[in-house]
Amino acid sequence: MRQGKIELSYEEYQSLEELPETLQELVNQSRKASFQAYSPYSRFRVGAAVLLSNGEIVKSNNQENCSYPEGLCAERIALFYAKSAFPKETIEAIAICGNPVEFELTHPISPCGACRQVMSEYEMLQKKPIMVVMCAVNGNILLIRGINQLLPFSFSPDDLNHQQ
Ligand code: THU
Repeated sequence: MRQGKIELSYEEYQSLEELPETLQELVNQSRKASFQAYSPYSRFRVGAAVLLSNGEIVKSNNQENCSYPEGLCAERIALFYAKSAFPKETIEAIAICGNPVEFELTHPISPCGACRQVMSEYEMLQKKPIMVVMCAVNGNILLIRGINQLLPFSFSPDDLNHQQ
């Protein structure tokens, strides 16, 4: 038996102004997008904003449905749209903002497992780390520099190749 250990790192910023400038705008866009979420069932609004290598920012929010599993997270909507409209661009960063209707969120939200898996594949494809900025409408902000910091042991496209 061999004991393994993985260390994950993240950065915490106490305010928006502390963040690197390009990411400040991205956080603002994700916060803004969260207010337009269609989430009448969970009443939990989420905004996402993706920054591409051409400087384009793609925004989205979560979209729910009365047939509950049919909704989709803000992150995947933004990522899938970004890659469908700009397939050659690199994803530099994604900002995610939680904004519940019923209460004030006092800590950043982090992406669900399914969204992490999608981020992970795009990151492998582009061979460049994707930054993830996690926040709420107010308060502190967390930054990770690479999806491997959020999803170690991810399933990879190479796992489908049985010849390896
Ligand atoms: N949600 C997101 O959009 N992103 C996340 O990272 C977590 C959850 C959405 C899905 C659902 O519409 C609502 O938030 C409550 O789970």
